[in-house]
Amino acid sequence: EKIESFQDDLLAWYHHEKRDLPWRESTDPYRVWVSEIMLQQTQVVTVIPYFNRFMEWFPTIEDLANAEEDKLLKAWEGLGYYSRVRNMQHAAKEMVETFDGKMPQTIEDILSLKGIGPYTGGAIGSIAFSLPEPAIDGNVMRVYSRLFCLSDDIALPKTRKVFDKYVRETMSQTEPGDFNQALMDLGATICTPTKPSCETCPIKHYCEAKKTDTASSYPVKKKK
Ligand code: ADE
Repeated sequence: EKIESFQDDLLAWYHHEKRDLPWRESTDPYRVWVSEIMLQQTQVVTVIPYFNRFMEWFPTIEDLANAEEDKLLKAWEGLGYYSRVRNMQHAAKEMVETFDGKMPQTIEDILSLKGIGPYTGGAIGSIAFSLPEPAIDGNVMRVYSRLFCLSDDIALPKTRKVFDKYVRETMSQTEPGDFNQALMDLGATICTPTKPSCETCPIKHYCEAKKTDTASSYPVKKKK
């Protein structure tokens, strides 16, 4: 019914409009993992050359586990937040020791790895293994706050649970990876923080904020 057409419309838009990005050339869990870690605090355009070089220097999880610290830090120079790459090497060693050198395939095992939280775990699980797990970042919270006129303060840690429930109940169970990436692209290109392009939005017919012309009131983020 309505949820299915919502998913179909969003997925059709994504298949047509998705951005050509190097980490979308395959669903290799290692590539998904590295890209999602890099993208956490860094813009897509900045990440692209770093991602390509990282894959040349460390083509496999085992290469990352065995990398020299100097080379690892050199690969990250300019990205900042060096704990990200240190945690990745720690997790790569865990995968070599415990998971036969591979990314594990259950959400519980994925989340047990150092540096992989709910967002990154959901992204890896859905994109690499088609697990129906949400990947909720600021973009997704913006899209869903408008879609359902959710006024929960997105700055509060407990709000994440609210969005998690909405996304779980509405996401595609058959193409969760594309569904999650469609939300990322929608948030980046259409459902933007200021001046969202509601008229060209592929899911405008389902959007409560569009219906009430209140998109600019969402998401709610209270100042401290
Ligand atoms: N931002 C975070 N993850 C992303 C992805 N997989 N594609 C594009 N932008 C992203």
